[in-house]
Amino acid sequence: MKLIDARKDHYRKLAHEEGYRSRSSYKLKELHKSYRIIGAGHYVLDLGCAPGGWTQIAVQLAGNQGKVMGVDTSYVEEIPGAHIIKSDISDISITEEILSFFGRKVNAVICDLSPQVSGNWSVDHSTQISLNYAAAKIMDQVLEKNGNALFKIFDGEYSNEFYQYVKKKFAKTKLKKPKVSRKQSSELYCVCLGYRS
Ligand SMILES: C[S@@+](CC[C@H](N)C(=O)[O-])C[C@H]1O[C@@H](n2cnc3c(N)ncnc32)[C@H](O)[C@@H]1O
Repeated sequence: MKLIDARKDHYRKLAHEEGYRSRSSYKLKELHKSYRIIGAGHYVLDLGCAPGGWTQIAVQLAGNQGKVMGVDTSYVEEIPGAHIIKSDISDISITEEILSFFGRKVNAVICDLSPQVSGNWSVDHSTQISLNYAAAKIMDQVLEKNGNALFKIFDGEYSNEFYQYVKKKFAKTKLKKPKVSRKQSSELYCVCLGYRS
């Protein structure tokens, strides 16, 4: 998107006005409105959380009784009500750190992971799907029975394979493109409800 278009972007402006760190906050809001992914008092893990737009929404939805942890390789400025760790999701010690922070399994795992895009679509697509498999591996160890998950998917050759892989693990799954997503973007979101464990 050209800078001039970005300035005009409605959700970018709104995010700025409402104090959200990214326009992505509105994607989570929209998906949550339809699917109730995060409830009050929930424990929520946000993988690939920088700059923190989803984490801010998760904190609001989980409320005072909830607990939210965000993970990213990039630095994230402090978010009141959330615990942020600077780490790579492929780091094998991460699951232990997650479970130690929450003290039990979580109610929701939300993943908006994107690689640094190279411009080569098939490389970016397969790297993003690999990130999702790494996130699903963590999810399998930290998500409680009947918990929910959300994965961003760069749509392409391997999307259906990943979708079928997670579909088996949940009572209900749905692929959605939020209205907030830019028309030219090929991202989809996989909403997963009711983890079978
Ligand atoms: C689109 S951004 C997330 C935006 C965020 N949901 C928000 O609303 O502000 C994707 C993030 O995934 C992170 N990421 C990519 N690979 C990662 C990895 N291996 N481990 C942790 N984070 C990763 C990137 O650093 C980037 O910040």
